[in-house]
Amino acid sequence: MSADSLHDTVLVVDFGAQYAQLIARRVREASVYSEIVPHRITAAEVQAKNPKAIILSGGPKSVHVAGAPVLDPAIYELGIPVLGICYGCQLIAQQLGGTVDRGGRGEYGRSTLTRTAAQSRLYAGDTSASRTVWMSHFDFVSVVPEGFVVTATTPDAPNAVIENHARAVYGVQYHPEVVHSVGGQQLLRNFLFDVAGCSGDWTMASVVEDQIAAVKKQVGNDRVICGLSGGVDSSVAAALVHRAVGAQLTCVYVDTGLMRRGESEQVVETFRRSMGIELIHVDAGSRFFEKLKGVTEPEAKRKAIGELFVRIFEEHTGGITDAKFLVQGTLYPDIVESGGADGTAAVIKSHHNVGGLPDDMTLELCEPLRDLFKDEVRKVGTELGLSDDIVWRQPFPGPGLGVRIIGEVTPERVATLQHADEIVRHEIRDAGLERDIWQAFAVLADIRSVGVMGDERTYGHPIIIRAVNSDDAMTADWVRLPYELLEKMSNRITNEVPGVNRVVYDITSKPPGTIEWE
Ligand code: XMP
Repeated sequence: MSADSLHDTVLVVDFGAQYAQLIARRVREASVYSEIVPHRITAAEVQAKNPKAIILSGGPKSVHVAGAPVLDPAIYELGIPVLGICYGCQLIAQQLGGTVDRGGRGEYGRSTLTRTAAQSRLYAGDTSASRTVWMSHFDFVSVVPEGFVVTATTPDAPNAVIENHARAVYGVQYHPEVVHSVGGQQLLRNFLFDVAGCSGDWTMASVVEDQIAAVKKQVGNDRVICGLSGGVDSSVAAALVHRAVGAQLTCVYVDTGLMRRGESEQVVETFRRSMGIELIHVDAGSRFFEKLKGVTEPEAKRKAIGELFVRIFEEHTGGITDAKFLVQGTLYPDIVESGGADGTAAVIKSHHNVGGLPDDMTLELCEPLRDLFKDEVRKVGTELGLSDDIVWRQPFPGPGLGVRIIGEVTPERVATLQHADEIVRHEIRDAGLERDIWQAFAVLADIRSVGVMGDERTYGHPIIIRAVNSDDAMTADWVRLPYELLEKMSNRITNEVPGVNRVVYDITSKPPGTIEWE
């Protein structure tokens, strides 16, 4: 989007910490388009992207370690405003003639930042003398490079914020991008708007407009196919492409019979009835159950479901011989290159993808969401008029409930799980927690336990409730759900779902567990 973009671009140089994506999102929250670039980027490459500003991210290394990543020094000479954060701040100090020392105690977590008397552009209009900020550093800037003034300090970072107004180069030792840093977003805004002169015109409405134009240009008069999975990404991508090329789009929804209760109907209702999109709804549940007979091993299940999905998808798209494009809901984090240890590792999309579309498809990809983060995709979905039920849908595995049923997958067991899962979802929504939880669902185990109901002894199956929070699904923490909510879910599930006589709550984080049970 950058080079030929109508909008200002800010480059976030990734030095290998997980913070680069967060910084990029914060910049975008200020309505300025941002792009993450690897730290090996050269001054010429920067110039070609014509950015309004450059932000150097934090990183896990010390500037003193052999092989520590650096910035092409010629970038400082381009006259483009630079803001270094944490490692980025130390790098500025080191590369522009200051000194970074090891000697201190380091600061991790909360710290108190105190302003000095020096004139500051980063704190323009801000009169508070001190504030809480979030630190994570061992090294510190001990000697400030020539031309810089110190505008704030902390107990263990005497030169916590350094500013060179003439060169428009700035460094902050703390992390303004994390919410615990008071006034952090304002500091970024001061840098973006007052220092760099960004206009802040990158809004979701402008994203929709730009992407519609881009899709029109790419697709022309050709036919486009979109495999809907029922998830947020493919739904928003389909809605966007439909807005751009209307009846040239055909969506295919392969219903595996392994969806959550009511979701297939909702997909059909939304796309065919409300939006008038041509939708091929393939009701293939019985074929999947047939294929899954006797299959109990998790990877064998995934393989069986994935292969059949591809075959059915091909069966139903093979007839659309004039199709030239395939829509995919690829997102920015799927493609962004990570600064990683050596700066070359591409972020690996978690082991899975949509439903796993054919590898040998000769269709050209149309990926209208590839510049966007998940939260932005949700906003675009809302902008396009999709309902909250679709836009706020949680991530859901391609193999569906197949990997939430331990042991063999049968229609009866799917029905049991769907019922319990619906209760979990319903109660979470009723408690107002739906948007605060990354994923919450039920799992059906293949063991049985003894219970008692009325005067009768029962011997039924347990349902496991799992609720986790996560930023990227790579790590996750189990959610401390209120006891009252757990009690309600447990009562309802044991009372309402036949064959279930026990409910347990999974209190495992990832690692060591995974989010799904299989
Ligand atoms: P795990 O269980 O590996 O899951 O911690 C991480 C995220 O990926 C989802 N997931 C899948 N998605 N196909 C998919 O498309 C799969 O086979 C699959 N397995 C897990 C999971 O729901 C979580 O969001």
